[in-house]
Amino acid sequence: MSDNRIRVFDTTLRDGEQAPGCSMTLREKLRVARALSELNVDIIEAGFPAASPGDFESVKAIADENLGPVICGLARCNPADIEKVHAAVKGADHHRIHVFVATSQIHREHKLKMAKEEIIKSAAGAVRMARELCEDVEFSPEDASRTELSYLAEVVSAAIEAGASTVNIPDTVGYTVPAEFDELFLYLKEHVAGIDDITLSVHCHNDLGMAVANSLAAVRAGARQIECTINGIGERAGNCSLEEVVMAVKTRAEFFGLETGIDTTRLYPTSRLVSSITGMHVPRNKAVVGENAFAHEAGIHQHGMLQHSSTYEIMRPEDVGISKSNLVLGKHSGRHAFRDRVRQLGFELDEFENNRAFQEFKKLADKKKDVYDGDIEAIIMNVDNASSGPWSMQSLEVQTSTDHPAAATVVLRGEDGEEAEASAEGDGPIAAAFQALEQVTGVLLTLKNFELHSASIGEDAQGEVTVTVEHGGDSYRGNGTSVDIVEAGCRACLEVMNRILRRRNRAGNETDPSADAERATI
Ligand code: KIV
Ligand code: ZN
Repeated sequence: MSDNRIRVFDTTLRDGEQAPGCSMTLREKLRVARALSELNVDIIEAGFPAASPGDFESVKAIADENLGPVICGLARCNPADIEKVHAAVKGADHHRIHVFVATSQIHREHKLKMAKEEIIKSAAGAVRMARELCEDVEFSPEDASRTELSYLAEVVSAAIEAGASTVNIPDTVGYTVPAEFDELFLYLKEHVAGIDDITLSVHCHNDLGMAVANSLAAVRAGARQIECTINGIGERAGNCSLEEVVMAVKTRAEFFGLETGIDTTRLYPTSRLVSSITGMHVPRNKAVVGENAFAHEAGIHQHGMLQHSSTYEIMRPEDVGISKSNLVLGKHSGRHAFRDRVRQLGFELDEFENNRAFQEFKKLADKKKDVYDGDIEAIIMNVDNASSGPWSMQSLEVQTSTDHPAAATVVLRGEDGEEAEASAEGDGPIAAAFQALEQVTGVLLTLKNFELHSASIGEDAQGEVTVTVEHGGDSYRGNGTSVDIVEAGCRACLEVMNRILRRRNRAGNETDPSADAERATI
């Protein structure tokens, strides 16, 4: 690879998925991994296999698909973690073991309770062991940006000597600033032997809103791998946002003199996919992929845009995969037009799913004049959820009044085709409908949060509901969409109930790969 090519290391499925509320099922992770491969990222960090049996299974499933990018798994510096990563990733032709250990004084004293020398020994030993299993080994000194520079150089030197082919410098708590980070990289370049023979990488968190700026500073100082996530999801304030950092390098190519291999026209579809799967909404004003990123409201701006788009636009919407007109289909659109749009939005559906989605699209187009991309995404998420039963929603009836409790009746169909009905009353239509669902499914949930967003635009837009619920001490999120917001809420709730029931049905089996089971923490 030429020296001006930056490798894009996507950690949406590891650091991103680790963030509260962002957990994904195995099926969803596979869908994201396929989208990342279409986006042409260089490396997919698919998870932390030692964290739970579910994490192991999903990393393995992604690696076994052999999508093209290097598939990487994270390990602490111990043999069990490293062996688990190797067992999970080895199905991919190109795979990587990523080992890390914290190096800052705060982490050494309060978290690890280890002396400097012990940490160096542990890092070098782990890299050596990983190298015996795999040629491609990455090492990260966690909290590097708060580590004493001379000690950081010692740790990095030991990792390189032990065989690390990539050394990643994390700003774990999002503390550094661009000029300081630039100095850190230059210091390492000057003081670490062999550093020019390995790939230097950067991994920034966004606690002070500088993850992208700090990553770009590192790149200017010699880093050639950027670790980032779609929509910047990740622990706390998130990670460096892939779409922002990639478009900064591309848009300011004359300044950076660098390039990535990313197909930028896949940025928007991938962003939408991750947002609908995780339920983490992209703010309207988010750079590059936010709804307003290319909207020009002010009259003076509109006038300039009409004269020449470059007056106020530094990137073209089509460069990031936003179609010029978001208005897509209507009730006369046929099966082919629908399937094409689904593909452009980054979804790969099989024949069965496509037919079901098309039927739902036709139903929606009867209710709603214009069907937008957001509506299509919502249909696909519903079809995906519904195709993973055991229960599917047949009908819902609600009555509300200012004088009486609300009442709801739901009819669900089970896997055996039998229908079951229940009615309930509650303080509002959501409470009544949720109770009716509980009666049919037998799954009792405590509702913690109910978020409602509009999936597209206009008065007849579909409502997209994300519920956060608790069951048996675990927290779950579910999504559902409909032009009727109570129905959307019920679909979200039913998605979670189905997940819990599938997990229960597998019970008897001691380990449950796709369960949101207790995870080891980093
Ligand atoms: O933020 C961090 O330090 C990490 C490491 C495990 C790379 O995510
Ligand atoms: Zn991180």
